[in-house]
Amino acid sequence: MINTVIEPGTGAIGAQNLDPFLDIEQEINRVRREKNAVILAHYYQEPEIQDIADFVGDSLDLSRKAAQTDAEMIAFCGVKFMGECAKILSPDKTVVIPDREAGCSLEDSCQPEDFAAFRAQNPDHMAITYVNCSAEVKALSDIIVTSSNAEAIIKQLPANQKIIFAPDRHLGAYLAKKTGRDILSWPGTCIVHEQFNEKELVKLTVRYPNAMIAAHPECPDSILSHADHIGSTRSILDYVTDHDAVEFIVATEQHIIHQMDKAAPHKTFIAAPGADGTCDCASCPFMAMNSLEKLYLAMVNEAPRVEVPEDLRIKALTPLQKMLDMSPAPPPQNRDAA
Ligand code: 13P
Ligand code: SF4
Repeated sequence: MINTVIEPGTGAIGAQNLDPFLDIEQEINRVRREKNAVILAHYYQEPEIQDIADFVGDSLDLSRKAAQTDAEMIAFCGVKFMGECAKILSPDKTVVIPDREAGCSLEDSCQPEDFAAFRAQNPDHMAITYVNCSAEVKALSDIIVTSSNAEAIIKQLPANQKIIFAPDRHLGAYLAKKTGRDILSWPGTCIVHEQFNEKELVKLTVRYPNAMIAAHPECPDSILSHADHIGSTRSILDYVTDHDAVEFIVATEQHIIHQMDKAAPHKTFIAAPGADGTCDCASCPFMAMNSLEKLYLAMVNEAPRVEVPEDLRIKALTPLQKMLDMSPAPPPQNRDAA
């Protein structure tokens, strides 16, 4: 596989050289100014990273932001495929990520050679691929989608068009149900959403009988069947903010609750439970690899830096650009991401 992340050169500052008394926020702000950088963060990042970011959003909003920024450097706090998307869309920018190992179970489940074979076995199917995949898999796809635009994009295709959907089987099944289309799903799952447990969720609804349940479509159907609202992270955030209810059970990665607390401090948000009812299942271990210190070092060292070979970038850009062209306009409160 092509390595799309490069390491710092010699002379780089390492974590061991960091002054323990450094005011890390102040230093990040200084480097951001000096290097004309923009910090983008996904809702699944820890609160201190969300709070220092210039923009916090879901996968689609972050892609739009990366495509339109006039900053010279994009410091992307999320996971590796998100940094890759930013580089594919903005090749002239320096794109850095805090940790080169911050991957994704969905990306890992779908290796390019296996995906190419899957496509070859289904030559009459269009490949509609979830953004949570490598640049190589994007390059083998017809259209990229996120959880916030997948349904709308699929509905624009001819009704009899057969589709292969990778890598999330739960999102694939959800989309087949919503659109009535013939969708053959790749068997990948998100290790976070996969762990939510229906039995424990039902117990929680007994304790909070007035709580609304908002779930991400990466959850299995056993969880989605209880949900009052299903959508991308941004859509879940908009739902809990706008709804009259004051208690919500949130079936997605729990760090989004930071934005919910900020938007609606008088409401109560409860992370959906995993199998034993107490585990930290709602945390993404890949997103959790990032820290303010790693963000600072990435900006200072300009590494780990995301580089995508130009021939691969061009191939991956076509389906990614189709996604942006076919996406419905964002709601008014998110227009700054458009
Ligand atoms: P969205 O923010 O697009 O809903 O994606 C969720 C996710 O799992 C990102 O890794
Ligand atoms: Fe991947 Fe799931 Fe983590 Fe998102 S939450 S980065 S889909 S493992």
